[in-house]
Amino acid sequence: MTRHLVDLASVGAEMILEWVSRARVLRDMPRSEREKICAGREVVHLFLEPSTRTRVSFEIAAHRLGARVIDFDTEASSLQKGESLYDTVRTIEAMGTDALVIRHGENHAPNELAKRTRGAVINAGDGTRAHPTQGLLDLLTLLDEFGDLAGRKIAIVGDVKHSRVAGSDLVAFTSAGAEVVLVAPPELRREDVPPGVTFEEELDPLLPTLDAIVMLRIQRERLDAELALDTEAFVARYQLSEARLAMIPAHGIVMHPGPMNRGVEIVDAVADGPRSRILDQVGRGVAVRMAVLEWSLGGAR
Ligand code: CP
Repeated sequence: MTRHLVDLASVGAEMILEWVSRARVLRDMPRSEREKICAGREVVHLFLEPSTRTRVSFEIAAHRLGARVIDFDTEASSLQKGESLYDTVRTIEAMGTDALVIRHGENHAPNELAKRTRGAVINAGDGTRAHPTQGLLDLLTLLDEFGDLAGRKIAIVGDVKHSRVAGSDLVAFTSAGAEVVLVAPPELRREDVPPGVTFEEELDPLLPTLDAIVMLRIQRERLDAELALDTEAFVARYQLSEARLAMIPAHGIVMHPGPMNRGVEIVDAVADGPRSRILDQVGRGVAVRMAVLEWSLGGAR
């Protein structure tokens, strides 16, 4: 059976929690046992936007399950000669591959491919809409920290309008019972939020009430055409400085999906400090991507 993962909103809370639970099992499994799970399977990476964390951790996850990765070089491909994305994917599939991990700059591009292809499609981030495996790894990070999220309050701060991470995090966190607040100036708010998620414009009054804060970079590559954001004003109002971190209760943690723009949304001392879970998030990405690949590929061949 072909199993696509295009966003978390369409799979439901039960499945989200099942992937997180399976990620914990897979990360603790002996390597020799794990490598049999997807042995003989072939996964194609098709990244039409830059990536460090997602691309490398999907590759490591596939290898740890015994699958092979074919890293499609978009710049050296016939996409440059005008071949469509659909024809490109159909061409690759004709060679007998099993799954496609795709990052694309346009919202819904993975959904459109998933409707028209034979193999599994896994969304590694589309436009400003969804980044489902980032939502899962952020949820795993929080659950590892707090046990469960009932009664926990999490702020997602910064350019939530253009952040596909925000789109998936708020679905993942609310699925596990957390209260989620999006903090941004009015021009950086987003529309597609589930019921119960609230907006705040001011960060400082919220800080003493938080269990975790997720900082986001300003996505200049997506906003320059539509608005000129005053970076100095943004920094003054939202940057997670040491002084702001001191206002968050002592058990509260700091997260960031990366890449960070140090000195803008977060300072070095906070990013590298003892309350930062930023590199823990990266490590957990491999575990959740193993869980998703196992589910999507459906075992060894
Ligand atoms: N968090 C994230 O998606 O990072 P990359 O763009 O480096 O994959």
